[in-house]
Formats: sequence, structure tokens, C-alpha cells
Amino acid sequence: MFNIILFGPPGSGKGTQSELLINNFGLTHISTGDLLRSEIEEGTKLGVEAKKYMDDGQLVPDEVVIGMIETLVRKNKTSKGFIFDGFPRTTTQATALDTFLSANNMPIDVLVSLDVPEAELKSRLIERGKVSGRSDDNEEVILQRIQEYLNKTKAVEEHYAAQGKLEKIDGVGTIESIASSIAKVIERLTPVK
Ligand code: AP5
Ligand code: MG
Repeated sequence: MFNIILFGPPGSGKGTQSELLINNFGLTHISTGDLLRSEIEEGTKLGVEAKKYMDDGQLVPDEVVIGMIETLVRKNKTSKGFIFDGFPRTTTQATALDTFLSANNMPIDVLVSLDVPEAELKSRLIERGKVSGRSDDNEEVILQRIQEYLNKTKAVEEHYAAQGKLEKIDGVGTIESIASSIAKVIERLTPVK
């Protein structure tokens, strides 16, 4: 089993790179953002609650996302491994994930952090906002999402650096060249089967 956290600010390419990793390594993709948007689409109580935070560019409460993740991991225990995309996003979430995964003997192997300058993040998300239909892809909310990342999420990098699990990758360049940098990290860390 190989468990990777794909980490980075809004617009850094977590979702884009996850798609390629699923194809190349057969891992199970868990994106809390995608899960929350499905809940909104289905009009569930959780979705209605989460939308208030998401539309403002704020993180939804920790206990909501932690519960979602644990349910999904339990359902997919036979998977070759997981890509966590957009989770954990606070040190509380990171500690909860570590505890849960350790109890199931399947710890995080690496956190890959995509490094992208703020100006590039904004221009990618404003561009995507023209077609995505995502209510949080507008300039005001994008700025708030980036601020929330700096205030609450960036510390997660340090949490995994302290465990010797941080790998930083340049997130600017072609999608293929970034995918190849991530693949090299995974191949270096994957035990020979
Ligand atoms: P979430 O859905 O996770 O959104 P995000 O992290 O804000 O950012 P994105 O998904 O928009 O960016 P990405 O890094 O996936 O980049 P992408 O590949 O799409 O979260 C949304 C909200 O849900 C949060 O604000 C919060 O409210 C809530 N939430 C989610 N998880 C939570 C949690 N754990 N705790 C609490 N709340 C949570 O790429 C972006 C664009 O750039 C695309 O158009 C893409 O085509 C383009 N692009 C990608 N790579 C490149 C490249 N190399 N060069 C040029 N363009 C590129
Ligand atoms: Mg995403």
C-alpha cells in the first residue's frame, strides 16, 4: 500500500495531478472538495451546511471532513493506496488522519507539496472561473481561499516535514513535466514488490 498527500494552495494542480496518478499508479483518489461539491449537488444537510463556508472561501469544520475521510477509507480498504487531495488542511485534520491510518496499519508515505507562486494561482483560477461553474472561482473568494491556506493549511507541510515525509515539487511547468516529477518521488519511495 502507498498513501500520498497531494498538497498545495488553491489552483496548484492537486486535482489535475491526481487524475494522472490514478491512471499511472492505480491509487484511489479522495478529494474532500469533490466530495463536498457532490453533497451540495445532492442537496444533503451536510452539503447545505458546507456551502456556506465554501462560498466564502472558508474551510468547513474539521469534524465534517474527518468523518467523510474515515468512512471512505474504510470502504476502500483493499485499495493499493490513496491519494489525499485537499486533505488534511489543518493540523487537527493531519493528526486525526495519522491516528486513524496508524490504527489501521497504513500510514502516510509522503506529502508532495506543489510550489506555485500566488500570481500564477490567481490567474489559473480566474481563468478556470470563466468555465468551471464553481461558485468559489471568482476573484474575491479566490483571495480568501489563498488567505485561508496561508493561515490554516500551510502548517500541515511542517507537520509532515517533522516526520521526514515532505517532498517539495515545482508546480509551474507543463502538466506532464510536473506529473513526471511526482512519479519519480513515488518510484523512489515505493518498496520493490
Ligand atoms: P477544493 O476543491 O480542494 O479546492 P482548492 O484546494 O481551493 O483548489 P482547487 O481544487 O481549485 O485547485 P487544485 O489544486 O485542485 O488545482 P486544479 O488541478 O484544479 O476545496 C474547495 C473548498 O472546499 C475549500 O475552499 C473549503 O471550503 C472546502 N474544503 C475542501 N477540503 C476541505 C478540508 N479538508 N477541510 C476543510 N474544508 C475543505 O488546477 C487549477 C486550474 O489550473 C485548472 O484550471 C487546471 O487546468 C489548471 N492547471 C493545473 N495544472 C496546471 C499547470 N501545470 N499549468 C497551467 N495550468 C494548470
Ligand atoms: Mg482540486
